[in-house]
Amino acid sequence: MVVTASSRLIALPDLAATEALAAALARVARTGDALLLEGPLGAGKSAFARAFLRAAAGDAALDVPSPTFTLVQEYETRLGVIHHFDLWRLDGPAGLEELGWEEARDGIVLVEWPDRLGDLRPDGALTLTFAPGATEEQRLATLAWSDSRLDALL
Ligand SMILES: Nc1ncnc2c1ncn2[C@@H]1O[C@H](COP(=O)(O)OP(=O)(O)O)[C@@H](O)[C@H]1O
Ligand SMILES: [Mg+2]
Repeated sequence: MVVTASSRLIALPDLAATEALAAALARVARTGDALLLEGPLGAGKSAFARAFLRAAAGDAALDVPSPTFTLVQEYETRLGVIHHFDLWRLDGPAGLEELGWEEARDGIVLVEWPDRLGDLRPDGALTLTFAPGATEEQRLATLAWSDSRLDALL
C-alpha cells in the first residue's frame, strides 16, 4: 500500500518559532521515528535538532555539538535514545552501517543531509524542509509526513 504524505507549509518568523516547532514535535515523537532535515547550509537544520533534543531531554541547557565531523551524536532523553546525524561528509551507505544506523533506528533519529541515505531512507519518515525567508531571521518549513500525528500537530 502506498501511503501519501500530507504536507504543511509553516512560516518561522524567528529562531524562537523554529524552537517552538521542534518542541511541539518532541511532544508527539516516539521510538522508531525518523525526522529528516532538509535545506541548504545555514537553513536551520542544526538549530531545529538542538531545540528538539533539549525538549526531549527536558534540559534547556543541554550541550548539542554539531555532528559535522563525528557524523553522529547520541543522546539519552525522556523519549529514549536519540541519534543526531549530519551526513554531509558520509561516503556512502556502507559508511552509514558503520555509524550504527540500524541500531539507531530502534530509537529516534534526526538526520541532516538525508539525501545521503539513498535506499536506506526510512519509509514513514517526517521530512522537514527549511528554506530561507525574506529576512535573516525568517524561514519557511515544509513538513511532509504520512502520519496522522501531523493533523494533530498543525
Ligand atoms: N528562524 C530561524 N530558524 C532557525 N535558525 C535561525 C532562524 N533565524 C536565525 N537562525 C540562525 O540561523 C543559523 C542556522 O544555522 P544551522 O542551524 O547550523 O543551519 P544548518 O544546520 O541548516 O546548516 C543559526 O545561527 C540560527 O541562530
Ligand atoms: Mg547543520
